[in-house]
Amino acid sequence: MPIQTIKTTPYADQKPGTSGLRKRVSVYSQPHYVENYIQAIFDSLDEVGGQTLVIGGDGRFYNNVAIQKAIRIAAANGFGKVLVGQGGLLSTPAASNIIRHYKAFGGLVLSASHNPGGPDGDFGIKYNVGNGGPAPEKITDAVFARTQVIDSYKTLDTPDIDLDVLGTQQVGGMVVEVIDPVADYAALMQTLFDFEAIRALFRSGFRMTFDAMHAITGPYAHAILEDMLGAPKGTVINGVPSPTFNNGHPDPNLVYCKDMFDLLMTPEGPDFGAASDGDGDRNLIIGKNRFVTPSDSLALLAANAHLAPGYKDGIAGIARSMPTSAAADRVAEKLGIEMHETPTGWKFFGNLLDAGRVTICGEESAGTGSNHVREKDGLWAVLLWLNILAVRKQGVDEIVREHWRTYGRNYYTRHDYEEVDAAIAGKLVDDLRASLISLPGKVFADDLQIAYADDFTYHDPVDGSTSAKQGIRIGFTDGSRIVLRLSGTGTVGATLRVYLERYEAPDGRHDLDTQLALEPLIGIAETLAGIRSRTGRQAPSVIT
Ligand code: G6P
Ligand code: ZN
Repeated sequence: MPIQTIKTTPYADQKPGTSGLRKRVSVYSQPHYVENYIQAIFDSLDEVGGQTLVIGGDGRFYNNVAIQKAIRIAAANGFGKVLVGQGGLLSTPAASNIIRHYKAFGGLVLSASHNPGGPDGDFGIKYNVGNGGPAPEKITDAVFARTQVIDSYKTLDTPDIDLDVLGTQQVGGMVVEVIDPVADYAALMQTLFDFEAIRALFRSGFRMTFDAMHAITGPYAHAILEDMLGAPKGTVINGVPSPTFNNGHPDPNLVYCKDMFDLLMTPEGPDFGAASDGDGDRNLIIGKNRFVTPSDSLALLAANAHLAPGYKDGIAGIARSMPTSAAADRVAEKLGIEMHETPTGWKFFGNLLDAGRVTICGEESAGTGSNHVREKDGLWAVLLWLNILAVRKQGVDEIVREHWRTYGRNYYTRHDYEEVDAAIAGKLVDDLRASLISLPGKVFADDLQIAYADDFTYHDPVDGSTSAKQGIRIGFTDGSRIVLRLSGTGTVGATLRVYLERYEAPDGRHDLDTQLALEPLIGIAETLAGIRSRTGRQAPSVIT
């Protein structure tokens, strides 16, 4: 089978963001766009000859087209084997597990996560390394540099692989094995959680709803929750993956899961509600009459992880992204374990997990996970919650309240301004950055005094690397914080994120409305950054 070397020219915009290269499908469909990017990835890696590559995606529109291209380019570049999920499907955490389990060289994870799909939606390609986690910046920087000078790629002239048939097929000199996307992942979950206790919970009449949002977690949730754990049929809703996510927005937050939230707030609703996003790495947790913020969920899972068999000996440490609330810090302090604050992006947890310095990680953006894989993991979080509920025999609300009475409550919200003019957003951040030096000591209403103001720089304690300009932090003497940064995952214009946090002691008031509790900080953020006057927006596009 002759290897074809196809001439090409660079695209200027193939710079990977927080989580791979995310673009509109219309951008990805340009001639050689996918090929350039995948060849640039392979060119940036060490010798790939004879190695195993994992490929899978969240099933969104263009998934199969990109997979067929990726398989041919992998074969032409000398990979020995490709493991691909049946139907081209693999959730992001399952892909991470497959890479680790089969000791693959790396993997291509095809997804734009929670962004809408379909011909007018988004697509994405992310490269994960041999530990199962997203490639570190050293590699993503090299990939981008390579995309800027690429002049050819290698491929083969072969028919499409049948992605629906389990088993092996041959592409040139390379073996392609189509594998069950769910089996290995489900087996891993069984090693971590007390399935018998969770089965007993469901037998006792406990009811939950899991919204797979027409995305990748449907097959995983049907198999694990309903078939293995005995949750009644119908527990999983929207469980068939659709290339357009049924024209929905597969982001598990209170905007897109409002119906489920409303149901959980009624007496006749289920006891527990959860959801996951397009590629299965995010989670939403709602108890009866209690939404659990992702930051609180991280703290609660860390404090209770020892109740699950996989973590019975305790956890080594916790890591959270910088904008995530400090609720988990208080748990780490009490447990006497390491606590790390990293930049936004799961890739920054990889080194800490590999070095055994942390066991549980989480982000305000609805991601939680552990050292079982190197991605955040939506269903894992749901199963750990179920394990905790089964052992503690209490409701979510009761557990959350007890937690606050022990550690205090970190009121927390995020205000997003989406699709803002990129130049205006950039200038806003630059001007705020320039003013930081003058802020410490300033006092605002409610005795809120600024203790420090900086632009977050991360020093990785494992490999010594430094990542600068990771977001503006304005901290107050009472522990309150305003964080402001530009999203690295948007595909149109800029998304400005403002994160607001206020701490209330264990004996303080834990029943305030979050937006009201944070009103003084919202006002200060506006005074300091001038978001409304500069962007012309009167209110955030999304509040989470
Ligand atoms: C993805 C990444 C996360 C990140 C989130 C928000 O889900 O995997 O690590 O927290 O995007 O990133 P952004 O740059 O849009 O705030
Ligand atoms: Zn995701």
